[in-house]
Amino acid sequence: MIDKMPIILDGDPGHDDAIAWMLAKASSQLEILACTSVSGNQSIEKTSYNARRVMALLGIDAPFAMGRAKPLHGEPIHAGNIHGETGLDGPVLPEPRVEAQPISAVELMAKTIAASERPVTIVATGPLTNVGALLILYPELKPKIARISIMGGGLAHGNWTPAAEFNILIDPEAADVVFKSGVSLTMAGLDVTLKALVFPEDFERIRALGNPVATVVAEWLDFFYGFHRSIGYAGAPVHDAVAVAALVRPEILTAADYYVQIETSGDFCRGATVADHFGFSGQQPNTHALIDINREGFIDLLVEAAAWYGKEQA
Ligand code: RIB
Ligand code: CA
Repeated sequence: MIDKMPIILDGDPGHDDAIAWMLAKASSQLEILACTSVSGNQSIEKTSYNARRVMALLGIDAPFAMGRAKPLHGEPIHAGNIHGETGLDGPVLPEPRVEAQPISAVELMAKTIAASERPVTIVATGPLTNVGALLILYPELKPKIARISIMGGGLAHGNWTPAAEFNILIDPEAADVVFKSGVSLTMAGLDVTLKALVFPEDFERIRALGNPVATVVAEWLDFFYGFHRSIGYAGAPVHDAVAVAALVRPEILTAADYYVQIETSGDFCRGATVADHFGFSGQQPNTHALIDINREGFIDLLVEAAAWYGKEQA
């Protein structure tokens, strides 16, 4: 029997975070050890409530802990215009089944990693506040972190400012710690996630599965596509699910290794992920950057995952 990959899910659900967690739970290759929330798409209170409801919907039986209310520096920014007032507008979700642990997200991450017999992979699909704090407070745990797979950044441009992608922009100081940590880092940035568009006809493939989780996923896609359609997207960019796809189906992805630095100052470029394409820095690469995806293979992966909930409940 193949050993499952132990993972921690850290995110700001968020429609695409929720779909990423759906994909992770349905994968026979992954073992979810813990879930943690971070302030991002909405306030920490809302992303924490959403995380716990998503865990209830998906049947994720793992400890949960809340992250910090603010980034390491500065004030939080939220994306209510995209994810709605609740941060996960759209379908009705079950009430939480797990209470938050009486410890912080960082403490739960550290406790989980320390107790794991095998190195743990962190899947971070929101701002990197918790992961950065973990690396600052518990550097001795680095050898027990197998990899950090993030959704964040963009080698060519941003999506919240011309230079910065949302997750990195919310907490560039935390991202700087992560990118300088020396821990194996896979970056699902906009370069790949904007190619991972889920089209309305794909929503219908998922909706047609008919199980309760598939129905909710289709309705999450309906809502999430609303904002993106209004600004000209042909489909819903399910950014965060690519950070999970990188773990369970790497063959649908194309990557390149770069030395990436995080801009933490500047009037126009704070939060930019600056890749050294030509070796100017003389530094070894620190980032396995995903740059292309087999979109059809990605959709098939999402459909297979959503279908699993029908079989699982059968
Ligand atoms: O820029 C996209 C990222 O910001 C995604 O993780 C989305 O959930 C938001 O957090
Ligand atoms: Ca997210």
